[in-house]
Amino acid sequence: MNSFIPHFLLLTLCFASLSSLVFTAETTPDYFFIIFQWPKTKCESKEGCCLPKKGEPALNDFIISEFQPFYAQDGLIPENCNTTTKFQPSKVADLASSLERYWPSLTCPSRDSKKLWKEEWVKYGSCAESVLDLHDYFAAALRVQKQINLLKLLSDAGIKPNGTYYPGEMINKAVEKAGLGEVAVTCREDKDGLNTVLDQITLCGTREGNKFPCPGAFWICDSRNGNKVKFLKP
Ligand SMILES: *[C@@H]1O[C@H](CO)[C@@H](O)[C@H](O)[C@H]1NC(C)=O
Ligand SMILES: *[C@@H]1O[C@H](CO)[C@@H](O)[C@H](O)[C@H]1NC(C)=O
Repeated sequence: MNSFIPHFLLLTLCFASLSSLVFTAETTPDYFFIIFQWPKTKCESKEGCCLPKKGEPALNDFIISEFQPFYAQDGLIPENCNTTTKFQPSKVADLASSLERYWPSLTCPSRDSKKLWKEEWVKYGSCAESVLDLHDYFAAALRVQKQINLLKLLSDAGIKPNGTYYPGEMINKAVEKAGLGEVAVTCREDKDGLNTVLDQITLCGTREGNKFPCPGAFWICDSRNGNKVKFLKP
């Protein structure tokens, strides 16, 4: 295990249970973490995946897993903040086809992705309501995803989803070169427990939906393959 966890994450972990009690969202988030998921890795894991009941997810691209407001002063990613705004699909109707594609629910059993969006609004969107309303929370996440274009960024650096192993350093450098700061990467073991497979990549964005250089990185991947990770074919 070769992992480096920055202070802000440790703080987050320590205060995670407290945050929902004491956090009042009077301040504003400094920036957002966007967590990208490589769908194939989830599907190939023990957990598996199920296609949503509606829409066509981008299974050959990175999809959004989370869009989390970060409050640097407190070192917190608060959750489940007090909001009176209920998730209503009609409020994101203009974004639905993009959300179905880039923020789909892949959990089993198969469900409508609207259920996921509702959960994400309650868990994280509610804690950014001082700067983004329901519609703009989802719009900002989609915009950051589009601006970063992670698959192209990696591909331009010679990191392609073709079942090859890539050194972690190569991923770090590609992200740094794109002006996105420090990358956080998590891996999973494949079904046989033999391979360390690229799972999620965390980058940063602003409330306006612009990409933003991340100040802290961590690497949660097994080092048994010389700190290399396998990037599965879609
Ligand atoms: C949540 O917000 C509502 C309406 O603004 C308020 O009446 C209620 O007291 C708040 N609850 C907590 C736990 O802060
Ligand atoms: C995968 O792509 C990389 C980068 O283009 C290349 O170096 C590598 O040989 C490819 N591997 C396979 C198995 O096609």
